[in-house]
Amino acid sequence: MRQQEFRGFAGVRLQADVRGHEDAPPVLLLHDAGQTRADWAGVAEALALSGRQVVSLDLRGHGGSEWPNDARYGFDAFADDVRAVLAQMPARPLILGAGFGGWLAAVVVGEEGGHLASGLVLVGAPAVADRLAIAPHFDPAVASALALTGLETRIAAAASRVTAPLLLMDCAGESATLHPESAESASFDGAVPLGGEALDSFSATLVDFLERRLPLAPPEYREGRDARTFRDALGCFATGVTIVTAMDGEGKPIGLTANSFTSVSLDPPLLLVCIANNAGSAPALEGAERFAVNVLQIGQQLTSNRFAGKGEDRFGATPWAVGEFGTPVLTGSLASFECERHAVHEGGDHFILVGRVLKASFEPQRDPLLYFRGKYRRLHFA
Ligand SMILES: Cc1cc2nc3c(=O)[nH]c(=O)nc-3n(C[C@H](O)[C@H](O)[C@H](O)COP(=O)(O)O)c2cc1C
Repeated sequence: MRQQEFRGFAGVRLQADVRGHEDAPPVLLLHDAGQTRADWAGVAEALALSGRQVVSLDLRGHGGSEWPNDARYGFDAFADDVRAVLAQMPARPLILGAGFGGWLAAVVVGEEGGHLASGLVLVGAPAVADRLAIAPHFDPAVASALALTGLETRIAAAASRVTAPLLLMDCAGESATLHPESAESASFDGAVPLGGEALDSFSATLVDFLERRLPLAPPEYREGRDARTFRDALGCFATGVTIVTAMDGEGKPIGLTANSFTSVSLDPPLLLVCIANNAGSAPALEGAERFAVNVLQIGQQLTSNRFAGKGEDRFGATPWAVGEFGTPVLTGSLASFECERHAVHEGGDHFILVGRVLKASFEPQRDPLLYFRGKYRRLHFA
């Protein structure tokens, strides 16, 4: 076991125990209010033995984690801590949240559309009102300071949006009120920290769920000198998507989809794209005095396909206008760079087209269209 420090919301230091192999699929363990990671050590140990990497976190103000000086301990500060920790993990974890930790997990994952976790286990996710009634440390004043008022509806709405595998584990004395249709459920007797038979049956239920819904796949490292491995390895570099456009010798617009776009220099302002020598648009782009690079937004996936495919009237079906410097600019793009040709370099079966930017324009509100491992993607984090 090793210790790891995470940075939470506004830089708050959060302490975690990490067990298991660093390449194993991760599980993030969020304890209940009033507990620490030590209370879940037995469960963390069992999960690590079953082949998972378990990150057991102390929530702010608990165990080894910092109590922020600004005394921010509303529900949203805890939720922002969880978001920050997720952003620091190398892969999307299954989140196991107990009580308050379960509320946090449901809200963080559900409100993001379910992309942030590979699965969710909510342990004893009680009704907020029940919890306030039975737990002395949740008296009404504390509840309002924690911004728990109105949370019930928020948690239920978020949980119903979780698309990842979901297990609700009812613990003795607290009735789960979340019943999304996709959820599996299980009950167990025993109080945390779990020990003896209670720990064994709890862990067995958990491991069974994980092995059925998120089976362990051994990490696969591929290497080679062949063209397929080279292409697949390049596909690990996530990019945006652009359409490079110009006017051909007859004044007709031409263009193709390209993700080989890179910024080169700020002063002078230079960028580059790599164009396949055998692309139909290659002669026009190589000879064009000016060209434009249009960076695509999430709504332009069909446009990207159109400019990468054959046979379609690319410009007939796409809104565009002639830009200030005479290049075809695609309307509604995330950003457009009108360029003059600065240099053309040989680059194997491609040529490297370097442009000096004459004018840049962009629309900051839009999300980019992304490309990774041969598929279009979208941002998960705002
Ligand atoms: C996401 C994506 C990225 C691409 N990136 C490039 C690139 O950087 N350079 C290139 O020459 N072709 C790239 N292509 C392929 C061209 O868009 C495709 O071959 C297109 O049909 C060429 O059109 P053309 O032959 O009419 O010029 C990419 C295609 C896709 C879908």
